[in-house]
Amino acid sequence: RILIIDFGSQVTQLIARRVRESGVYSEIVPFQSAEAAFKEMNPKAVILSGGPASTTEMGSPRAPQIVFEAGIPVLGICYGQQTMCAQLGGEVATSDHKEFGRAFVSVEKSSALFEGCWEQGSKHQVWMSHGDRVVSLPEGFEVIGTSEGAPFAAIADEKRHFYAVQFHPEVVHTPDGAKLIENFTHKIAGCSGDWTMAEYRQQAIKAIRDQVGDKKVICGLSGGVDSSVAAVLIHEAIGDQLTCIYVDHGLMRMGETEQVLSMFRDHYNIPLVHVDASDLFIGQLEGESDPEVKRKTIGKLFIEVFEDEAKKLGGADFLAQGTLYPDVIESVSFTGGPSVTIKSHHNVGGLPERMNMQLVEPLRELFKDEVRDLGRELGLPDSFIGRHPFPGPGLAIRCPGGITREKLDILRQADAIYLDEIRKAGLYDAIWQAFAVLLPVQTVGVMGDGRTYEFVCALRAVTSVDGMTADFYHYDMEFLGRAATRIINEVRGINRVVYDVTSKPPGTIEWE
Ligand code: XMP
Repeated sequence: RILIIDFGSQVTQLIARRVRESGVYSEIVPFQSAEAAFKEMNPKAVILSGGPASTTEMGSPRAPQIVFEAGIPVLGICYGQQTMCAQLGGEVATSDHKEFGRAFVSVEKSSALFEGCWEQGSKHQVWMSHGDRVVSLPEGFEVIGTSEGAPFAAIADEKRHFYAVQFHPEVVHTPDGAKLIENFTHKIAGCSGDWTMAEYRQQAIKAIRDQVGDKKVICGLSGGVDSSVAAVLIHEAIGDQLTCIYVDHGLMRMGETEQVLSMFRDHYNIPLVHVDASDLFIGQLEGESDPEVKRKTIGKLFIEVFEDEAKKLGGADFLAQGTLYPDVIESVSFTGGPSVTIKSHHNVGGLPERMNMQLVEPLRELFKDEVRDLGRELGLPDSFIGRHPFPGPGLAIRCPGGITREKLDILRQADAIYLDEIRKAGLYDAIWQAFAVLLPVQTVGVMGDGRTYEFVCALRAVTSVDGMTADFYHYDMEFLGRAATRIINEVRGINRVVYDVTSKPPGTIEWE
């Protein structure tokens, strides 16, 4: 067990994630309550996170002194390094030479922290983000790595097993960072590395039981991976105290609603209310072509329908949500300034306050790929877990202009054929997201000996890591030809297919 003391870095959860990846259990506590947590947990080692404060300021946060007196290994990262030095008798100064982004560390000395990875005399890319820096070391410490802006980029007191780095080993831009953290958890802290998602599942189940007691929980299922994993996990914890509500807005892809219903009802036996609200949604959207109005209409209707259904069920004390860690950080502004709304995202964000319910969010600490692992652990089929992301407002935002049931049907068929071809070509997992868009444009064609005047279908496929930036997928033309021919031949209402070669930015992934 490792205790991570959080000084407010944006990336503290990434430390926890790297520790989990090394097969070791960890808990994050804010620095204010670290002392009590330390005594209760009795950890094998401690990691001090980065943070926005400066140790040179009065009243800046500190690690409880007990951490350094317990005879256990400690790793300080960025602010964690600075406070470690300040607390053990070294000196930190605010420097004019701030370092942000990529830097290179030269390895001055071999160390347990670098074992099997960084040799003396070698140089490695790391990611820095600091204004302050250590200027003199506490007794017992020596420099094991330097960078241009940070002469004390990595320091160690090998005897006491204290290590500290100015750079961030937890981010992917420090390519060997995960290995350094693993060295800390395995070689230095002596943890065995046998902690798995199976144990995460058990802990999460216990936490849900502790939180909910014998009260009722309602979960809004969207058909996506996150809310599904959350629901299955919660059901495992509290059984039929959970009811799921699936608001069917009629904007799902081919066969999707049926798949969700059968999985939850037949396979998992989870109480599920299916609300077919497609007439309401499509009725209100018909004729509306402004993308923001469409998004807001869907968001508003969703909340109204959900609220009604929850009332019919007699209410509940808790609302379950499949919030992931990136959703938590994205809602915090990085710049502190107002950011521009590109699109109004549809989620159930406003629900808990309106309905006076507390939240159960068992995935709050996890990243998307960890949620997928947990889903597999819970027995959700691979085909379901590996699905491409699908936006809350569904096909409505893939049908620019006004929507009708007929257009949605055409789009659904084209999309299904396109995805079928992608799967057949073995490309599904190489693509982050692929879908068809039905354009509100008709063009002239010739089929058989007749003239046609039908809609244009655009195909989209992108690669991405997190959906924030994306590149269009570079298909070979044979593939595109095959998909286009099938769509035009098999879907009545489409006589032309185009491929979208826009990346993000400047485009967004969805068309609306
Ligand atoms: P954009 O179009 O903004 O999409 O580049 C980035 C990712 O987010 C998905 N997306 C949404 N997901 N509610 C969601 O749950 C929404 O309103 C929404 N809009 C876009 C999109 O599919 C892509 O994966």
